[in-house]
Order: sequence, then C-alpha cells, then structure tokens
Amino acid sequence: MEKPNIADKKPAVLEVEPGTYYWCKCGLSKKQPFCDGSHSGTSFTPVEVKVEEKKRIAFCNCKQSNNSYMCDGTHSKL
Ligand code: FES
Ligand code: FES
Repeated sequence: MEKPNIADKKPAVLEVEPGTYYWCKCGLSKKQPFCDGSHSGTSFTPVEVKVEEKKRIAFCNCKQSNNSYMCDGTHSKL
C-alpha cells in the first residue's frame, strides 16, 4: 500500500470551531493538517471530521496514527 508523507513529527493542536473539516491523510498538503487537494493522483483521500462543539484536537501530522486523524503518539517512534 502507498505510504503517506510525514508532514511533521508532531501533531497540530488546534482549537476548532463547530463545522466540517477535511484532514489531510496523504501528508502532501501545504495547509496542514487540512487537505488542500494535493492528494490528487495518489490513492489517498481526506478524512471528513465533523466537530459539534468547540474543542481542542491534536491532529496527526505524521499521518501514521492508528486513530484516524487524531494523534495517538505514534510520531514519537518515527
Ligand atoms: Fe492530503 Fe488532500 S491534500 S488528503
Ligand atoms: Fe501522528 Fe502524533 S502526529 S501520531
């Protein structure tokens, strides 16, 4: 399987407002942690993240997390 690009070896911890976000899974976006369309031509597609209430999320930037778009600490082993 195609491997995602490691955009960064630490998460993007962001305070997000309610809404729908698209997390970049390919690691190629210039607007990390979100998709900017750069996955075009790869086997990756962004992950839709629906946020119901304002909260802080640690978005995975290494793209190796086993917990979808959320950092699970895997970056520390890279
Ligand atoms: Fe990475 Fe869209 S740019 S998933
Ligand atoms: Fe990917 Fe932490 S940034 S697991």
